[in-house]
Amino acid sequence: MITFQLKDIRKTFQSGDIEEEVLKGVNLSLEKGRVTALTGTSGSGKSTLLTIAACLQTPSSGRILFQGENLASLREKNLRKVRAEEFGFIFQSSHLVPFLTVEEQLEMMVEVSGKQGCKKDIDSILRRVGLSHRQNSYPSSLSGGEKQRAAIARAVIHRPAVLFADEPTASLDSKKSMEVMTLLQDMTTSLGMSTLLVTHEEEMLAFADQVVRMEDGRVTDR
Ligand SMILES: Nc1ncnc2c1ncn2[C@@H]1O[C@H](COP(=O)(O)OP(=O)(O)OP(=O)(O)O)[C@@H](O)[C@H]1O
Ligand SMILES: [Mg+2]
Repeated sequence: MITFQLKDIRKTFQSGDIEEEVLKGVNLSLEKGRVTALTGTSGSGKSTLLTIAACLQTPSSGRILFQGENLASLREKNLRKVRAEEFGFIFQSSHLVPFLTVEEQLEMMVEVSGKQGCKKDIDSILRRVGLSHRQNSYPSSLSGGEKQRAAIARAVIHRPAVLFADEPTASLDSKKSMEVMTLLQDMTTSLGMSTLLVTHEEEMLAFADQVVRMEDGRVTDR
């Protein structure tokens, strides 16, 4: 089931007198319970497309269809609500808050999303990412893999409909990367999320249900 669609997304950046079109009409559909991997060479526009899909920046033109609305035409106030309630985010670096324990990171996300009912799931999510014993630890005492697993738990605790992950394994070794990807795949299926994963690592594509390749601002094949 298609839950999220990008239609003819274009993005032009202006630097001085020069206009550069970095996205040249991209179409993309995400499905419920499926991981879509977005791959391609450096500079092809993957992160730009992900941040536009996540409504962290606006497209120059095109539509972002989600829950019967075109997010590209929503006001910032309404977008903020969609992002907090319906989207989850994971990046290359875990971006954990240094002065909060693992459990508090998740509590903070529950607060931000306004989905108080999800607070009861914190224990079980931490168990699933293998961090029950680290519940009261601060980020500085976690390993790289543990930090990224905490970031995954935080990204999904409020049960987002769409999970955006930009190079989530780029700072991990191959074994840890596999663990993180297995977890992402497992969470996507069990929570029924639509996951958009940006990666330039070929080994990670095995974890995707759909692979979309980009080159110079365009999708080349699927
Ligand atoms: N804010 C910006 N202003 C101007 N140009 C930008 C901006 N953001 C991105 N670009 C340009 O858009 C192009 C695509 O960048 P993007 O970060 O989307 O690539 P990417 O595919 O994610 O690359 P990588 O694999 O290196 O992360 C690049 O040429 C980049 O320089
Ligand atoms: Mg990028």
